[in-house]
Amino acid sequence: MADSQPLYDPPADLKSRLKASYDAIAPKYNEWTIPHSSTRLNYLDQLLGRLPTSSSTPVSVLELGCGHGLPVTQKLLSHPNFSVTANDLSSAQLALARTNLQPDPPSRLTLLEGDMLALDFPPASLDAVVAMYSIIHLPRAEQVEMLRKIVAWLKPGGWVLANFTAVELEGREVQNWLKEEKGWMFWSSWGSEGTLEKVRGVGLEVVVQETVEDVVDVTFLWILARKSDS
Ligand SMILES: C[S@@+](CC[C@H](N)C(=O)[O-])C[C@H]1O[C@@H](n2cnc3c(N)ncnc32)[C@H](O)[C@@H]1O
Repeated sequence: MADSQPLYDPPADLKSRLKASYDAIAPKYNEWTIPHSSTRLNYLDQLLGRLPTSSSTPVSVLELGCGHGLPVTQKLLSHPNFSVTANDLSSAQLALARTNLQPDPPSRLTLLEGDMLALDFPPASLDAVVAMYSIIHLPRAEQVEMLRKIVAWLKPGGWVLANFTAVELEGREVQNWLKEEKGWMFWSSWGSEGTLEKVRGVGLEVVVQETVEDVVDVTFLWILARKSDS
């Protein structure tokens, strides 16, 4: 008998619903996620160890789904040679980031509101792209599209640091995430093996791949990957 199970289709208004949710739950999420900061900083340090920190070498970093900018965007900006473009879908998150992040000079930070998939940068213009707990909110097909865009934007030898849900999810919706009335949420994933295949498939070399259980019992695949030099 043919498998008649319908394929999952994400809601047509996915992005506006996610924006509305994060606009509503930003303070709650940001407080709830503080215990995950040491994991974020562990992987960020692994990226930073591979980027030039000399003040004479400019480094250009894009952060996708930066949230309120703590602790990751702030740590990126603590390097005076770094310029950071920090993107988020949620105006509430970006308003918090604007308050939390005060680089010197201010021109080292650009905050960009909107869907990460709609961003556009010149080819080979970025040294690194960071996406923590954010690509997971894109439908699976869009995750691959996003990876392709990231590769195009990276300079040869550039780096991407991102995490993905380790368990395969065609699409998971939750009505009241974090027990918030307005906390409708969506995640998807190709799973660890599938994600690694997609990451390699867009031409990235995976240098670090680790599966880590977060403080809450969700397991994430963390990837640090590099675009080839040629
Ligand atoms: C789980 S939070 C992670 C925030 C931050 N990176 C951190 O580690 O705490 C996900 C963030 O991604 C943003 N986001 C969700 N979908 C997005 C999209 N399509 N484009 C840009 N940002 C998005 C949300 O607004 C939210 O701030």
